[in-house]
Amino acid sequence: MAIVEKKRSALPTPYAMDPGFPDRVPKERYFDPDFYELECEQLWPRVWQMACRLEEIPEANDFTTYEFLDQSIVVVRTEDMGATAFQNACRHRGVQIVQGQGTCERGFQCPFHGWRYGPDGMNAGVTQKRTFAEHNLAPDDINLVPVRCEVWGGSAWINLDPDAPPLRESFEPAASMLEAWKIESLRTELWFAARLPVNWKLAIEAFVEMYHVVQTHPQLIIPTRFGKTDDADFDARAFIEADIQYLRAMSEGMAGMCHANDVAVAEGLRDIELPADPTEAKATWNRTLNDAVMSWHQNRGSDVPDLNDLDARGINLTFFHCFPHYFVLPMYSSASQYRFRPLGPEETLMEIMSLTRFPEGDERGKPTAPEAWGADDPRWPPIPAQDFSNLPRQQQGLHAKGFEYMRLSAGLEGHVSNFERTIDGYLAGLPHEQLLPAQRAVNVYPFDKPIADLGF
Ligand code: FES
Ligand SMILES: [Fe+2]
Repeated sequence: MAIVEKKRSALPTPYAMDPGFPDRVPKERYFDPDFYELECEQLWPRVWQMACRLEEIPEANDFTTYEFLDQSIVVVRTEDMGATAFQNACRHRGVQIVQGQGTCERGFQCPFHGWRYGPDGMNAGVTQKRTFAEHNLAPDDINLVPVRCEVWGGSAWINLDPDAPPLRESFEPAASMLEAWKIESLRTELWFAARLPVNWKLAIEAFVEMYHVVQTHPQLIIPTRFGKTDDADFDARAFIEADIQYLRAMSEGMAGMCHANDVAVAEGLRDIELPADPTEAKATWNRTLNDAVMSWHQNRGSDVPDLNDLDARGINLTFFHCFPHYFVLPMYSSASQYRFRPLGPEETLMEIMSLTRFPEGDERGKPTAPEAWGADDPRWPPIPAQDFSNLPRQQQGLHAKGFEYMRLSAGLEGHVSNFERTIDGYLAGLPHEQLLPAQRAVNVYPFDKPIADLGF
């Protein structure tokens, strides 16, 4: 009891997770305006956020803007193929210097009174300069305000906190695993956006456990695929067909999380002979499919990792959560990537990008932000449509007078607890050295993860 009291006093945030019951999430965290305000002040300005894919700004001096909460950040591609960022507000009277995306070879000119800035954000000219008092034109004080920006995994990332650990450190251990999978050679193929009438954490938590799959996505439960390996009547042919059916469902249902090219490769292998022993049969199928996917991509000149080597190292995972708002869901050669942004206490912008590997030199046009569809838009592929059909109902249900807290399965929904309690660490203003281990506990493979001791 004393320990619980002590821990409670360390996190004095209203609606904080109760350390005595880390498997319960107070409902107010998903709609209370003060709680949301605290997140806006203590979480979002202190974390790394995925600002754009690099293919949105492929050439030096290409720029795009990234909006979150009431902030707008300009991200510019540099000559060395890195990226730099600054706050989107003219130092004269605050007008946003640009909107949308474009190229800024000659820098930026404010549309109001014409102040000019270089592509690096440095002030390059003040119109009618002599009319200003000297103290308002101190050279260091009239550049666009710089924002930390790092490039990793095919994207540019920003962080408003000068004291936050470097990006890669923040994303470990996911960062190393995704690098081994060659995440940096993926490119955007499709981009969708959803405007969901739910809290941003509720949206995230709809995708981080497998518990909902049986009820919500019954098409993904294919009995012969999950048959017991000691099953005496294991049927290798039925197993192959079931796995192909699953890959197809993931491909069609997710607009390419399992890329159609990889499904076609799997279909080409459907007649291979497998050993009679079920465990060996599954291992052989997996190895053969990995090899075939790799050769298919190598033959057309794409950069593809050694999937069997990743399997052997136990890091060929299908889900990474880079705290707080970015997911990568790899399958064979390709992946889906999710990004979540709050638009208010009960509204979220969720983006889904399908990423794949293209042969070197096979340049695609710049992807541009899509129109955001509603949760019930008939154009959603089956899998997100199923998740989105639950989410608004859940947000509504949380308001019920008699509902106090979510009760989590400690065995299947530990990630939700770890994620929420890491957020509490931010809201309590804990230092980064305490937050980093907690965040790392969140970053890798959420499914079936136990509730972790986060150290606070
Ligand atoms: S506000 Fe930008 S030049 Fe006046
Ligand atoms: Fe789902």
